[in-house]
Amino acid sequence: MKGKHITLAVTGAIAAYKAVFLLRLLRSAGAEVQVIGTANSLRFVGRETWEALSGRPPLFDLWETPDPSKIPHIMLAQEVDLVVVAPATANILAKAAGGIADDLVSTVLLAATVPVLFAPSMNTAMYESPATRRNIALLAEQERIHFIDCASGSLACGSAGKGRMAEPETIFGRIRYLLTPKRSEKLRWLIAAGATREYLDPIRFITNGANGATGRAIADAAWRQGAEVTLVAGNMPAPLPSDYAVRPVTSAADMHAAVTGLAPLCDVLVMSAAVADYAPVKSASKLKKGDRTKELSLESTPDILLETLPLMERRALRVGFAAETENLLENARGKMERKALDLIVANRVSASHDPFGAPDNRVVLVTPGGNEELPLMDKETLGELIADRIYDLALQKRSR
Ligand code: CTP
Repeated sequence: MKGKHITLAVTGAIAAYKAVFLLRLLRSAGAEVQVIGTANSLRFVGRETWEALSGRPPLFDLWETPDPSKIPHIMLAQEVDLVVVAPATANILAKAAGGIADDLVSTVLLAATVPVLFAPSMNTAMYESPATRRNIALLAEQERIHFIDCASGSLACGSAGKGRMAEPETIFGRIRYLLTPKRSEKLRWLIAAGATREYLDPIRFITNGANGATGRAIADAAWRQGAEVTLVAGNMPAPLPSDYAVRPVTSAADMHAAVTGLAPLCDVLVMSAAVADYAPVKSASKLKKGDRTKELSLESTPDILLETLPLMERRALRVGFAAETENLLENARGKMERKALDLIVANRVSASHDPFGAPDNRVVLVTPGGNEELPLMDKETLGELIADRIYDLALQKRSR
């Protein structure tokens, strides 16, 4: 987002307070944001809030200008990377669809030549009315114009239904998607992430500390680059992604069924999941205490990555992960060869460095051609970087 210029247009709905959080997300990601608003928007959030958080005076009037050498509504509509309207009322959608330009926001929308993202917010009856449906359909005919659908829930008017503006994180995710250049080929990615849970009885389970953050970041980054993504999600924090396909699973056996079922159709397989190598034989009823010692009988789980090998196309790219306490590179290379991988992401685990559940990580990317040692970074950035490398390798392999 660094160096990107965004016009954030706020219209008169209570969800304007959520646009404040959106502005914070955009600014923390490095974007330059000019806030503009309708007169009615000022009834919900005042000038000072926008000015303090954007670092520049917001504009509410067609005749206000930050730079007298430029015409503000043209600059804000054409010399930015994106215009986002959040919240977008039924009224602004009607004006934009009808080409009405009678204030700063509607004039910017009529003059816009860059992508525009609308985040509607209104009462359910207004959202479902034939007029609003028609206006949205008319606007969506333009390739440059995008919508982020309303969510359902309780509304400011006291009723419940569809009409709540999408959450700031969801709008932020869509903005990043729209601003990310797309790859030349739309590849199908299958990513397994998170920890598996192996139940001993209906209540207790064996698991590990993985939270799926790197796999999730890889999936998000691949989606932003235009890939068709399916995430097989072991145990990981909610909310799960809503922009691409997700198959939630619990145990290694569930993950095995999901991944082997989908692998024949994918161009890229990323097994970043922390799969249990052994699972207990599950008791149908709760295990009771009493004995001084208790023995657990464990059975090995199928090696999912290995089993996908005969199922996948030869030109598909295969990526694995390895967590090792010793002989990191030798062990990782051994796994790469044994499981016929094109890339293995090797994690060093020690008393002073436990990547599971941590916000950042340091890894080595091991390929048949050599090793690339990466510096310590947050898992979001790491996931983006790994996704970039994987996309490059996948396109190279396909062109061979
Ligand atoms: N993996 C898998 N199925 C399993 C176990 C692991 O697909 N039942 C995948 C992991 O997602 C990871 C890679 O295999 O991509 C790790 O290789 P593996 O040799 O199984 O590593 P460990 O499970 O750490 O094995 P070991 O205990 O032998 O080091």
